[in-house]
Amino acid sequence: MATLEKLLHDRLASAFEAVAGVPADPSVRRSQHADFQADGALALARQLGRKPRDIAADVVQQARLDDLCASVEISGPGFINLTVANAAIAPLLAAMNRDERLGVQSVAAPDTVVVDYSAPNVAKEMHVGHLRSTVIGDAAVRVLEWLGHRVIKANHLGDWGTPFGMLIEHLLDIGETEAAHELSLGDLNTFYQAARTKFDADDTFKERARTRVVALQSGDEQTRRMWRLLVDESEKYFLAVYDRLDVCLTEKDFFGESFYNDMLMPVVEELDRLGLLRESDGAKVVFPAGFTNRDGDPLPIIVRKRDGGFGYGATDLAAIRYRTQELAATRLLYVVGLPQQQHFEMVYEVAREAGWLRPPARAAHIGFGSVLGPDGKIFRTRAGDTIKLVDLIDEAVARAAALIEEKNPDLDESTRAEVAQMVGIGAIKYADLSNDRTRNYVFDWKRMLSFDGNTAPYLQYARARILSIFRRGEVTPVRDLAAIVVTEPAERALAIELLAFEGVVTEVAESLEFHRLALYLYGVATAFTAFYEKCPVLKAEDQVRESRLALSDLTARVLGRGLGLLGIGAPDRM
Ligand code: ARG
Repeated sequence: MATLEKLLHDRLASAFEAVAGVPADPSVRRSQHADFQADGALALARQLGRKPRDIAADVVQQARLDDLCASVEISGPGFINLTVANAAIAPLLAAMNRDERLGVQSVAAPDTVVVDYSAPNVAKEMHVGHLRSTVIGDAAVRVLEWLGHRVIKANHLGDWGTPFGMLIEHLLDIGETEAAHELSLGDLNTFYQAARTKFDADDTFKERARTRVVALQSGDEQTRRMWRLLVDESEKYFLAVYDRLDVCLTEKDFFGESFYNDMLMPVVEELDRLGLLRESDGAKVVFPAGFTNRDGDPLPIIVRKRDGGFGYGATDLAAIRYRTQELAATRLLYVVGLPQQQHFEMVYEVAREAGWLRPPARAAHIGFGSVLGPDGKIFRTRAGDTIKLVDLIDEAVARAAALIEEKNPDLDESTRAEVAQMVGIGAIKYADLSNDRTRNYVFDWKRMLSFDGNTAPYLQYARARILSIFRRGEVTPVRDLAAIVVTEPAERALAIELLAFEGVVTEVAESLEFHRLALYLYGVATAFTAFYEKCPVLKAEDQVRESRLALSDLTARVLGRGLGLLGIGAPDRM
């Protein structure tokens, strides 16, 4: 479906081209001064050697806009201010209202997208960094799936490597039953710390751990069994966390580092055949073009360590090769903290040089900043430990339950529990997603659970309140109206906001900047509040009433769908 912005863009683009003699971007944007503003003339001024105002005047002369715009004015140095005609809005809104998908079509050419996300480490507590990866990755999965892409979720579990030597030896020390017990309780940190302490303090233990790694890598059966036990118990625990967080990840999505073990040797051989492999300090490495350290020396990615072992880098090379070649992925997303940015850029570069990453296939690091505590430092418990995700979830739901109880004491107990779950989890996710992901953000209970401002509870409540209007009026809004008539300024503003949904979703599917979707939803909710203050809905008559009911219904649907795309539930009453 065509959005207003796109219609205006297309009409103006032809006019700009006629005036400039070459294609030129009209750059149409929402604006404070009119509904939309096109400032393409400014960028053209130097190129054409003309005043931008004159260019704008010619463009307005040329452009066919009378069916779309009520007024077209030039302002300032050469902005074109566009006020959309009410008659142009009505049919577009009606089409959106008729459409289950709210005007957002599935893509014509779906990508096969691998979303690498969550990726906690076996026998280690998930920390807030994994929370970010899980929440952002899950939103990516939901948006891309909704748009019709084939999405493969890859939970790159840290289930391999040297720590398993000490973990298995510790498991042997305390006995399998006790270990399984500790791990199933989610006491991952205690287990890991105990192993670590012995490893650091005790040389014989250290030696045992070393031997154990070798046994694990050479496939010793007994060792493998114990490794499996550690992995299984951790996976069970992570799945319980995913379930509570309401994210899409299931047991089928675990593609841990160990999954790529058999592909590591072939990767080394292929890199060697391609002439990309170098020897450095006894290790086998690749020097991807364009990466140097501070002294200007080329930076290697280690493929095979001096001791013959393979590391994190080798595994990611095997993974990218597997994803593009075996899974035929055309888009690779790595939802991992910003400190690993260079690692991924190096992996992509090696993959390009090896021919494993060729256009149209593309890879992107969906990096994110840290979660900070109220003191502005990395978010930790008072004792300085990493915060357990489950504790965070419990607290969120408990706080939400208290708020709901206060706000709506009439809700029956089971509804209240359900609502508290959606509000608590929603608040955590939304606090994460509504911030520019490349920035750090401060974890602030009060703010994220506030019913005012750009928060999940505010949006959830806005939607529930609309549904309560329908309940109160005992009406079911009609979805196949021929036109939705808008006249009042507040009504128009809401309508124009709603019509932007498609553009925002499409843009976010590309940029994966979910704060843009969040901010958009917040804008819709505030536009609705203004509309509802100014324009009677149930008390209006005939076509106006129908139109306003439809606008309200569309608002509720956009909010519900938008939150859903962010992985956040929306209760019908709260
Ligand atoms: N397990 C890693 C960590 O906790 C993240 C893995 C990210 N994905 C990847 N393909 N390297 O830091």
